[in-house]
Amino acid sequence: MPSLLELLRPDRRLAMHLPVHGRGAALPPRLRRLLRQSPGSWDLPELPEIGGPLERQGAVASSQAQLAEAMGVDHCWFGVNGATGLLQAGLLAMAQPGDAVLLPRNAHRCLIAACELGGVMPVFLPVPFLADRGHAGSMNAEGLRQSLDPWPDPGRPISGAVLVHPTYHGYSAEIRELIELLHAKGLPVMVDEAHGTHLAFAAKRSRPLSALAAGADLVVHSLHKSAPGLAQTAVLWHRAQRVDHARLHRSLARLQTTSPSALLLASCETTLNWLFSHHWSSLYEDRRSEAINLVDDLRRRGVHIHASDDPLRLILATGELGVSGLDADDLCMRQGVIAELPEPLCLTFCLGFARHRGLAKRLLRIWRALALEGGGVPLTQIPDPPLQSTSIPELTPDEAQRRAHCIRPLAQCVDHIAAELICPYPPGVPLLVPGERISADRCRWLQSQHQRWPDQVPGMVKVLA
Ligand SMILES: Cc1ncc(COP(=O)(O)O)c(C=O)c1O
Repeated sequence: MPSLLELLRPDRRLAMHLPVHGRGAALPPRLRRLLRQSPGSWDLPELPEIGGPLERQGAVASSQAQLAEAMGVDHCWFGVNGATGLLQAGLLAMAQPGDAVLLPRNAHRCLIAACELGGVMPVFLPVPFLADRGHAGSMNAEGLRQSLDPWPDPGRPISGAVLVHPTYHGYSAEIRELIELLHAKGLPVMVDEAHGTHLAFAAKRSRPLSALAAGADLVVHSLHKSAPGLAQTAVLWHRAQRVDHARLHRSLARLQTTSPSALLLASCETTLNWLFSHHWSSLYEDRRSEAINLVDDLRRRGVHIHASDDPLRLILATGELGVSGLDADDLCMRQGVIAELPEPLCLTFCLGFARHRGLAKRLLRIWRALALEGGGVPLTQIPDPPLQSTSIPELTPDEAQRRAHCIRPLAQCVDHIAAELICPYPPGVPLLVPGERISADRCRWLQSQHQRWPDQVPGMVKVLA
């Protein structure tokens, strides 16, 4: 096995994965220059002149203040523990122990972990399922209206709501209407826009709309999933009307490292300043139109690509050739292309912000090789999971994991309460959450998922004893 260090050497394989800077090619120019400086010269502690995200003084504080003003919000904080750390801090600022929060079924697992940390009950809202692709689509306002009528009763106060927009696959939600609806119910709204940083910097009136323009109270952007920053970098934007500043600050202090990397903080600052520049707008428009042309070209040549609202997420419909996305991913690796997200019915590539010459040819070659491998009989669709209504677990995730449990074959879990999370990663969207009672339908659906990706969905499950 090569050492980690050996694996970090330059690599000729095509990077169609996150982070989206494409192995450095699309990093902001000032960050590239910094990284060419004497190695390690930038690895500094929170010196007084640098400070940190939670300090009042120093360069980080002044950058955060300037960027918040430029974005038209009250505050922002850089994050060096991914979107994860900031989403968790946001959720725990909205909800006290003993509260509940509304979470869409396609919420990232870090939000379940936040509920676990804070003794918060998740109230799950259904999200449309795309059976031909085998994954969640995006929320619409009519669906949310129906999910909240009657108003869910978790037996404790519901203190906030989280939305995902856009999804990993680039599907965008009716974000303005969703936020207005939740605000009308008196709830603060945090939007996980990890995959949609670029939306907040696109030309005015362009669609899809960023949750920031749609009035969200908290928005988290991943600066490496949808902007060209270094891995682990993220930013939290805050409007103070519905979420108290002091609570949010305390929550961040609980969850963030006391030794943030100066390099990662500089990446946050430089990436956000780069996104505000004119250079960025034209670079983004170029990448976007190249991606649209690529998809048109491939479709004309018979390649099946599922539609997405984000042209930079290319979802190859491998199931239509009779090949799972997991097997297709192996084939891509053998052909020197690293994809991002393999799933039972498709394989998603993140085109990112680096320029890729000859990509159409390589993807066409891959599609033809898959067609030979697949034998032409399409895989069967994945039926909708039995999660089409609002649901409340019987126990909070932390309670369920503290109780005595046993491990049973999935088939024998009907009517038992889950004591563990089942969550393929990527994409990190839980299929089962600790505290949920497993109905017969749910058990059958999970078994069918186990058959499709046994490495990700276990056949033996921890349930309460
Ligand atoms: C929708 C969504 N939110 C949050 C996260 C967590 O982001 P990070 O890995 O940067 O902590 C992910 C990661 O895959 C994600 O897909």
